[in-house]
Amino acid sequence: MGANEIDGPVIELLSASVIYRKGKEEVGALRDIDFTLEPGEFVTVTGPSGAGKSTFLQLCGGILSPTAGDVRFMGVDRGKMADRDLAWLRSREIGFVFQSFNLLDYLPAEENVALPLMLAGVGEGERLERARQRLDALGLGHRRGHYPGELSGGECQRVAIARALVTDPPLLIADEPTGNLDHDSSAIVMDIFAAIHREGTAAILLVTHSPWVAGFGSRTVRIEEGRLV
Ligand SMILES: Nc1ncnc2c1ncn2[C@@H]1O[C@H](COP(=O)(O)OP(=O)(O)O)[C@@H](O)[C@H]1O
Ligand SMILES: [Mg+2]
Repeated sequence: MGANEIDGPVIELLSASVIYRKGKEEVGALRDIDFTLEPGEFVTVTGPSGAGKSTFLQLCGGILSPTAGDVRFMGVDRGKMADRDLAWLRSREIGFVFQSFNLLDYLPAEENVALPLMLAGVGEGERLERARQRLDALGLGHRRGHYPGELSGGECQRVAIARALVTDPPLLIADEPTGNLDHDSSAIVMDIFAAIHREGTAAILLVTHSPWVAGFGSRTVRIEEGRLV
């Protein structure tokens, strides 16, 4: 499914709250969040450390379930989704990009990018072809056989973006994707997010500390002490 085929929000949070419990200790990480992400939107999320930004992304990415309230993915209530539907959603319909890249060091770039397609049961030839196309599109075709340890931070993040996009998901979620990068690499990475937004193929939800990075979004929201403000 691509963003163009969705008519209605990609994500809806309806009074969603998340409380983490460890023994008797409770941390109210998100409280009563109402949020809607439309197809093709580029929303940047800012807020202080510990405010609940990563928790918010995990909720929107189907990784966490809300303690109270609801989350709806492309019109379907999370509570009504079977485990395999949720697994499908996370593996095919949402691409994730992290601050620390999360690449597998023992696989070359093209196999890192192809990994989500392997999990989806796509055959090896097609997997590698699609992975190479993605790397080419991000200017990394010539590095496809290189291992993460042989690439710069900015290159690793571009590989991670290629991996997130390889299943053509309608939603791309990024948690501080420039947090470990210098300014020049950050600019290259943000140009890629801006191009994805222009193409309109995926909605983007991106957390950042940087006002400059936040400025790339078509809309910015802020989270403070677990609330959307
Ligand atoms: N797995 C967890 N168990 C318990 N508390 C957690 C867990 N993850 C995050 N928290 C707490 O929830 C709050 C929000 O965390 P987080 O969403 O990571 O914030 P941010 O990404 O804005 O820094 C913080 O107080 C944090 O300590
Ligand atoms: Mg965080």
